[in-house]
Amino acid sequence: LGAQGEAAVTSPVQPESAPAAAEIVVLYGSQTGNAEGVAELASDRAKARGFNVRLADMADIGKKDFKQPLDLMVVVSTQGDGDPPDTAEGFYELMHGRKAPKLDDKTRFSVLALGDSSYTYYCQTGKDFDARLEALGAQRIHERVDCDIDYEDAAEQWIESVLDRYAELNDTASRVGGGPASVADAAPPASYSKKHPFHAEVLDSIVLNGRGSDKETHHIELSLEDSGLTYEPGDAIGIVPQNDPAYVDELLDKLRLDAEADLGEGRRLRDALLTEFEVTTLTRPFLEHWSEVSDAAELRRLMDQESRDELRDWVEGRHIIDVIEHFPVKKIDAHTFTRALRKLPPRLYSIASSYQAAPDEVHLTVGIVRYEAHGRSRGGVATTYLADRVRPGDTVPIYVDRNKNFKLPHDDDTPVIMVGPGTGVAPYRAFLQEREERQAGGRNWLFFGDRRFRSDFLYQAELLQWRKKGLLTHLDVAFSRDQREKIYVQDRMREHAGELYAWLQEGAHFYVCGDGERMAADVHRALLDVVREAGGRDEESAAEYVRELQQAKRYQRDVY
Ligand code: 2AM
Repeated sequence: LGAQGEAAVTSPVQPESAPAAAEIVVLYGSQTGNAEGVAELASDRAKARGFNVRLADMADIGKKDFKQPLDLMVVVSTQGDGDPPDTAEGFYELMHGRKAPKLDDKTRFSVLALGDSSYTYYCQTGKDFDARLEALGAQRIHERVDCDIDYEDAAEQWIESVLDRYAELNDTASRVGGGPASVADAAPPASYSKKHPFHAEVLDSIVLNGRGSDKETHHIELSLEDSGLTYEPGDAIGIVPQNDPAYVDELLDKLRLDAEADLGEGRRLRDALLTEFEVTTLTRPFLEHWSEVSDAAELRRLMDQESRDELRDWVEGRHIIDVIEHFPVKKIDAHTFTRALRKLPPRLYSIASSYQAAPDEVHLTVGIVRYEAHGRSRGGVATTYLADRVRPGDTVPIYVDRNKNFKLPHDDDTPVIMVGPGTGVAPYRAFLQEREERQAGGRNWLFFGDRRFRSDFLYQAELLQWRKKGLLTHLDVAFSRDQREKIYVQDRMREHAGELYAWLQEGAHFYVCGDGERMAADVHRALLDVVREAGGRDEESAAEYVRELQQAKRYQRDVY
């Protein structure tokens, strides 16, 4: 980070027409690249207005950077249960620990928090930084903005009004205008986007699980022909799904609303509920809205701050339709109902193919979500859309979502260790295809796990073939339900602690993909144990070792 106000040092007396240079530091913490994309846009917009700008990753910032006052724009996302992005963890701990820098009101900031309002700890990391920077003495110059998964518009508004505020405070930056037009435009050039997806033909859809499995995992092949789209291993595909018509019709029926009710701009209610709005997942804004329109005392009580845990339990396994059923309203119009619904977000799936190996195609590994809860069968919006409502020959709206934080090493000779139970294996199929295609010399080690060897060994033939050919140096599998005691990928890691540590010492990159609720944390714990035991280190030094892997981007995660 550069020294703020350097211009003032070289020429202490500023002519009135040339105001002192102000530097804005756009500081981001990003897991999948959304926060980074917003930070890049903020930086471009600030530059266009004549500010000096520094774009900084939380992974690369330390205490010494706070020696001089900073003008900060902080953009940070929140993971699962309120945690910071992996690469921001070190900075988060620094700022929240006893050794945090002491700041004063010359350090100014505003926070943009990215999150998902269906989680209890919505935007928690942003909230934490916002409160903490103030507690450390810095001056908040614009209130924090929290944004949901459809963050683009809110992010842009925040950027503009924070820059207005800095311009006002510095009375310096001239409005030059220009710069990229929107968050989408700031993303790396891609012809198709969330708002303008490509309609990809479904070439094939195969169930990977064998008979008797209690899982349903689809291998789906899509055509990219004539799209000009390409991708790299580690990238994801965004699917723009449609809701289940049966569910939408049930909603309309329960609300006694007319399918053709006019929502303005030529939109009809049923179509909008199918394509535009999220109609299953409960969010706090919806619940708040519903507690007003239904005026149900019980729901009002649940929305109290003190009932937070009770609400979380109640919401578990329930959807919007359950709330409507439980807390009925006499009469509601289409506008009032849709007002508190959020936009139907696209769903991301890690790509399971290499563009080099399957040109003009993209493959996905999708675990279909179906379950029973509170007396109703339920399904995931996008997974059931892919499994039940489209078939080969149909098209699906998609775009490529780049993920800079889940990439093969630049050096083809660097060894890689890949941990991916269940559908977490997807990006490794891409990695391995790519390395085979490139004839990369680096060693490859895969830890795969699933329920049963006979029915759930996804991509078994391909993986065994790769092991035979030597592309896979090691293939370690953990079938959790083939014996009485659960065996998981992390158990296999522990069994091979010595060799795993040796690979890390030789520069291996370590990847984890799959379930983010428990698996990722358990694998993290196992990695710490491996480093501690095989490396002969204590807790603290093992934690330091793993943190350094993270900071060096040699430990990358794609978890969901
Ligand atoms: P289970 O369903 O038998 O518990 C892919 O879903 C595989 O991941 C399954 O074998 C599943 O086992 C396993 N799994 C479940 N929880 C896990 C955890 N916390 N860590 C690692 N693997 C886990």
